[in-house]
Amino acid sequence: MNDAQFIGVGVGPGDPELVTIKAARLIRSADVISYIANEEGNSQARDIVHQILEDGRYVSEIPVLMPMNEDRTGANQAYDAAAKKILGAIDDGKNVVFLCEGDPLFFGSFAYLLARFKGKVNCQVVPGISSVHAAASVLQEPLTMLRESFAVISGRHSDSVLVDTLKRHDSVVIMKAGKSRQRIMAALSATGRTDDTCYLEYIGRDKERVVHDIEQLQGKAGPYFSLFVVTRKNRTAM
Ligand SMILES: C[S@@+](CC[C@H](N)C(=O)[O-])C[C@H]1O[C@@H](n2cnc3c(N)ncnc32)[C@H](O)[C@@H]1O
Repeated sequence: MNDAQFIGVGVGPGDPELVTIKAARLIRSADVISYIANEEGNSQARDIVHQILEDGRYVSEIPVLMPMNEDRTGANQAYDAAAKKILGAIDDGKNVVFLCEGDPLFFGSFAYLLARFKGKVNCQVVPGISSVHAAASVLQEPLTMLRESFAVISGRHSDSVLVDTLKRHDSVVIMKAGKSRQRIMAALSATGRTDDTCYLEYIGRDKERVVHDIEQLQGKAGPYFSLFVVTRKNRTAM
């Protein structure tokens, strides 16, 4: 193992001011940067730090072009191809910084690359502010208080898992809401939690949207970067 590192760096959900000082320092001093991009080459994580990159010294980029569907075969091929390129750079003694939207290890694609490198090359992970914590701050709503329970769930789960989670927990964040938006709304209604719920999309970005009356969302799917925050509205204030 040489000293070069593979470094996963969280860059937060959108607002460039939510990038940590440590993340900014590592991005500026990277030899190579890498990130997930869509088939057109666009990357949310790269966009968030584009100003930091301007001051950086990196000389090359490894975009990981990811098919935007749920086919694991295509995704695994993309990770394998990226891992080969990243390993080549590390073998040449270059530090590779992998930019991760939000936090690297919270529903992050970085996990699939880390699994390929852990124990084989020097790895480092720098946490980032997740979309969940940014959402609570935008709403100015505590995620949990006192003995409340809290669950985070993907909106892609079955209706029964959604309903069960909403029944069991005081607070619930439902991620990956986009295509499942109407199913999630039905589960919220079935569990009597519609009034406990707010919806947010593109948190920290120019097109940020916050919806307090989620009945307005009836009938339509939403964008990928969206989530629901469910908290007890009848909490007693301290
Ligand atoms: C692959 S996960 C990545 C989560 C990310 N690592 C984090 O720490 O928040 C993508 C999901 O996170 C949520 N998400 C991430 N960024 C968001 C944002 N800026 N606004 C709203 N939702 C966001 C959405 O639910 C989206 O479908």
